[in-house]
Amino acid sequence: MSNPATPPAVGVLDDRPPLTFPPGFLWGAATAAYQIEGAAAEGGRTPSIWDTFSHTPGRVVAGHTGDVACDHYHRLSSDVALMAELGLRSYRFSVSWPRVQPGGAGPANAEGLDFYSRLVDELLAHGIEPWLTLYHWDLPQPLEDVGGWPARDTAARFADYTTLVADALGDRVRYWTTLNEPWCSAFLGYGSGVHAPGRSDGADAVRAGHHLMLGHGLAVQALRAARPAAEVGVTVNLYPVTPASDAPADVDAARRIDGLANRFFLDPLLRGSYPADLMADLAGVTDFGHVRDGDLATIATPLDLVGVNYYSRHVVAAAVEGAEPEPYWRSPSCWPGSEDVRFVTRGVPVTDMNWEIDAPGLVETLRRVHEEYTDLPLYVTENGSAFVDSVVDGRVDDADRLAYFDAHLRAAHEAIEAGVPLRGYFAWSLMDNFEWAWGYTKRFGMVYVDYDSQVRIPKSSARWYAEVIRRNGLAAQ
Ligand code: FCB
Repeated sequence: MSNPATPPAVGVLDDRPPLTFPPGFLWGAATAAYQIEGAAAEGGRTPSIWDTFSHTPGRVVAGHTGDVACDHYHRLSSDVALMAELGLRSYRFSVSWPRVQPGGAGPANAEGLDFYSRLVDELLAHGIEPWLTLYHWDLPQPLEDVGGWPARDTAARFADYTTLVADALGDRVRYWTTLNEPWCSAFLGYGSGVHAPGRSDGADAVRAGHHLMLGHGLAVQALRAARPAAEVGVTVNLYPVTPASDAPADVDAARRIDGLANRFFLDPLLRGSYPADLMADLAGVTDFGHVRDGDLATIATPLDLVGVNYYSRHVVAAAVEGAEPEPYWRSPSCWPGSEDVRFVTRGVPVTDMNWEIDAPGLVETLRRVHEEYTDLPLYVTENGSAFVDSVVDGRVDDADRLAYFDAHLRAAHEAIEAGVPLRGYFAWSLMDNFEWAWGYTKRFGMVYVDYDSQVRIPKSSARWYAEVIRRNGLAAQ
């Protein structure tokens, strides 16, 4: 590693009891292809919607793109060595669709697959379990040009791509997730347009959400056919949704936002149906004519695990007179049919994304999935925080991020004690990276990346996490 060993920062733990996790708990860290790989035009890779979007002026802060990112494509070996040094038991990465199937159709690109094959081999050689996500938002641009996710055929294309990856890597990869955060793909990509492909149409967002889930179901079936032993799941981003008051209008606002943010995905995936109240809320947006017989059964194809990404809580109120529309996921255009709902700021501590820090929300979220939806093993596939970091004498002391992880791991432990079959936790993120519309201005990494030199510096949180993994829990001393 590039900086001298920093003693694990255990100060924030001093007055609390030690907590031990179940044996075999899968400790990991996560990344995504477009956010770290770079090499956008190498090895036969063709553009995805994120290349097009980031190269469109005004879309990403400061015009940042993923052209180079963390240059992970060329630094695979040293990056895996760093993971091993931190003691990671698992690494969650995503495969870039346009790298392994340029243009999104036709045969596999051997050079693209070879990169992931080398990554998997390197991980296994270091005793790190590969955890593969098939889709972390980088749709091949030609598929967007013929309609993108609002078009039904994209789901079938996704299943074909899945077979290519399963054939090439399924002999060594045990854990698979199909989609990462379909809410973001659908509602940020096609609703508000703050994510690629940058379209803004409520009905398209709803159709995209459905076709993403249909693609998921078809991909699960393709994986089962190609690799019967694979452990297959999906990753959804979930939020507890709390009304700002117990006024009936606020309670109803919370019901609506919970419908769009959480139940739009959980119900089809785990129950095989759309919630009736959500369909009623969306009546002015779509007639759900895009849903065909058999789709919901395909979407609910049985899984082996569910991945939950958790960052914060939504607190909402009914329309507030004179309230200014807010950007990003608070934008009314993310919430078709419920544009009048307002997101409320409680004044609690926030991260550099302005996301409220709410560790108890993780307990609530995990318990809800387990108690209302499924007995399947659950994994936190992402959890983390952006804070402004500074390098001082070659070190980055990220006490805020460390405290965020500490609080959320305590919450994860509390969920386990409450009976949730939580089997693993992936910190977001292994290293600082391209944070989508925010470019490189937001740092989520446990490892600091100097984008000029590509030097990696493990932050205090990384040293601390290594110690958590070593002890299989949080220490009091
Ligand atoms: C999630 C994304 C991930 C990263 C974190 C901060 O929504 O899955 O790629 O951007 O947020």
